[in-house]
Amino acid sequence: AWTPVNIIEDAILRVREQVGSRKVLLGLSGGVDSAVVAALLHKAIGEQLTCVFVDHGLLRYREGDQVMKIFADHLGVRVIRVDAEARFLHALKGVTDPEAKRKIIGALFVEVFEEQAQTLEGIEFLAQGTIYPDVIESAGAKTGKAQVIKSHHNVGGLPERMKLKLIEPLRELFKDEVRAIGLELGLPREMVYRHPFPGPGLGVRILGEVTKAAADTLRHADHIFIEELRKSGWYDKTAQAFAVYMPVKSVGVTGDGRRYEPIIGLRAVQTIDFMTAQWAQLPYELLDTCSRRIVNEVPGVSRVVYDITGKPPATIEWE
Ligand code: XMP
Repeated sequence: AWTPVNIIEDAILRVREQVGSRKVLLGLSGGVDSAVVAALLHKAIGEQLTCVFVDHGLLRYREGDQVMKIFADHLGVRVIRVDAEARFLHALKGVTDPEAKRKIIGALFVEVFEEQAQTLEGIEFLAQGTIYPDVIESAGAKTGKAQVIKSHHNVGGLPERMKLKLIEPLRELFKDEVRAIGLELGLPREMVYRHPFPGPGLGVRILGEVTKAAADTLRHADHIFIEELRKSGWYDKTAQAFAVYMPVKSVGVTGDGRRYEPIIGLRAVQTIDFMTAQWAQLPYELLDTCSRRIVNEVPGVSRVVYDITGKPPATIEWE
């Protein structure tokens, strides 16, 4: 029978056979799939694995530090963290069109990753967190978001330019199997069951121009929302939940008068396949707690709204 232990043992043997004593490069994103590949390859080939983690400054609250803590400190994986926040913010300056933002983030991501990769000696393989549903999606629809998503995080074009061979140890696995082996390999439950996060990160959750101030405000509000979802047991009952930042001027009244500030929107959805989704009917008390905490704790926010639209017609993300 296929158990997580079996799958791991089998994958390790195959990786060792394919790689021998050569070196492998992996892009770590903070997501589940690349995390499981990192843990698996580390177990199979140890020091022959080097991970590059591009921090584009549009990650969730303390996400970059968490990734480093788990992989570099806890598991002892060799991880190079590239702090590219300033470069991404500079490239996004003045850009408001959602697709233009996506393209800029995706292209710069590949550029930064490739620069790092070029500095490493003797790499012959590029590992990727492709899982079985990705294989099916790419075989079917040749256009659309699935394709875009994978080309982003899987640094398309790079293997050929750098003459790297691909290694995809999760290619035959479904998401639940990937999670099970992740747990077995010692990854924290919180990371293995984390909600998916888009490659462009907060870049598509800050409507309009992406600024450092907006990203910091959004990260803070999002963290409060997620913390309350976890506390109340709703995190695992939703497929994805997050805050968005609307750069409009909405009036708020405080002790010393009226102020005009951006709005924070909260979105939580339930879905199996992310193709259609229902908005999560979170308890009013929970929403109330989130709203009060956000306006009290996040400077510059005095209005919070909850998104009650399903997909379709609305998408899960706001951009
Ligand atoms: P939508 O907004 O299209 O999202 O309903 C469906 C799922 O895809 C994720 N998503 C993205 N993931 N790059 C990604 O890597 C993107 O540009 C992107 N846009 C949406 C979204 O978070 C949801 O899980």
